[in-house]
Amino acid sequence: MKAWLLKDFGLKNLQLSETATPVPQQGELLVKVSAVSLNFRDKAIVDGFYEPEMIPKPLIPVSDAAGVVVGTGPGVTRFIEGDRVTSTLYSRWVDGHPKHNEPDFCFGAPLPGGLAEYMIIHEESAVRAPDAMTDVEASTLPIAAVTAWFSLMDYGHLQPGQTVLVQGTGGVSLFAAQIAAAHGARVIATSSRDENLAKTKALGGWAGVNYKQHTAWEKQVIELTDGKGVDLLIDVAGGDGLNQSVAATKAGGLIAQVGFLTGQTTALNLMPLFFRQTTIRGIAVGHRKSFERMNAFLDDHKVKPVIDHVYAFDDAPKAFEHLSRGPFGKVVIKVAD
Ligand SMILES: NC(=O)c1ccc[n+]([C@@H]2O[C@H](COP(=O)([O-])OP(=O)(O)OC[C@H]3O[C@@H](n4cnc5c(N)ncnc54)[C@H](OP(=O)(O)O)[C@@H]3O)[C@@H](O)[C@H]2O)c1
Repeated sequence: MKAWLLKDFGLKNLQLSETATPVPQQGELLVKVSAVSLNFRDKAIVDGFYEPEMIPKPLIPVSDAAGVVVGTGPGVTRFIEGDRVTSTLYSRWVDGHPKHNEPDFCFGAPLPGGLAEYMIIHEESAVRAPDAMTDVEASTLPIAAVTAWFSLMDYGHLQPGQTVLVQGTGGVSLFAAQIAAAHGARVIATSSRDENLAKTKALGGWAGVNYKQHTAWEKQVIELTDGKGVDLLIDVAGGDGLNQSVAATKAGGLIAQVGFLTGQTTALNLMPLFFRQTTIRGIAVGHRKSFERMNAFLDDHKVKPVIDHVYAFDDAPKAFEHLSRGPFGKVVIKVAD
């Protein structure tokens, strides 16, 4: 089969190659990949700053995939040939508390990902693709949408009328804005671009703050919330900006620590954390059951993914370059028709 293989770190070392088509073993599905979507994780893996010692080489990268079951290994009962499925990043985390070794079983590293004509997905980690979505749309769900949903619902227990802050207008944040708004929450978005703030409002956002113009954006958020701060903040920026997130969150409020766009370490001021009694939880996407609940919600509320651009399979490196420039929503690679 054709596959993009990461032979060494760096985008120039992502090369279109021929490799053996995998054979499904006990409980596994052979999936003909229709589309994959890119996440910051995929870029960080290619660039070599995502746990580099954990990355096997050569690697078929990209964790988020949607496709059609074309073969099954012995013992498969959940799916049959012809079913449309998506991957789940944490491929062994089905429900409940995560186990310590969930990261060892992620697609797109260390397990082979979806940037190939075929991939193996265990039937326990496959999720039925929503009927109302194309495979291109469904491919955007496994990381960005589930992370947003898990943060808002499984962790945040979001209630209608509460206020949520999302940072930037990338994949996770736009899904979080759409889901929170559909649930009846007020959404404040930050962005480096005014036009993106306007587009986020059109998706249901309530207010926007340009974090480039207002470097002390937390003060704007406090003003917008009558001096209180937001109920739940989804932090995708990381780094020392976490102190601003604490300041922008209400007393007793919640922060879902999702990303590290500005840094993987932070110098956190503890006194404001104590005074505001903020809870910060690290988020690792979410489990399959949460994914399935989200799909039902997206269907009920007719929420569709925001896709910035769809690239052809042969143009995969251009899709990675687009992700580096900062997309509005998701960047997808169409693998097959
Ligand atoms: N822990 C998890 O489970 C999990 C899951 C998914 C993603 N993540 C992480 O979450 C982060 C975002 O992922 P993504 O896939 O949504 O990324 P993405 O689609 O590449 O989005 C990036 C966007 O973030 C915004 N941004 C950049 N720097 C920012 C800053 N300093 N403050 C606020 N916004 C900023 C920009 O929006 P504007 O152009 O509008 O400014 C940019 O377009 C990444 O670090 C990723 O690794 C973690």
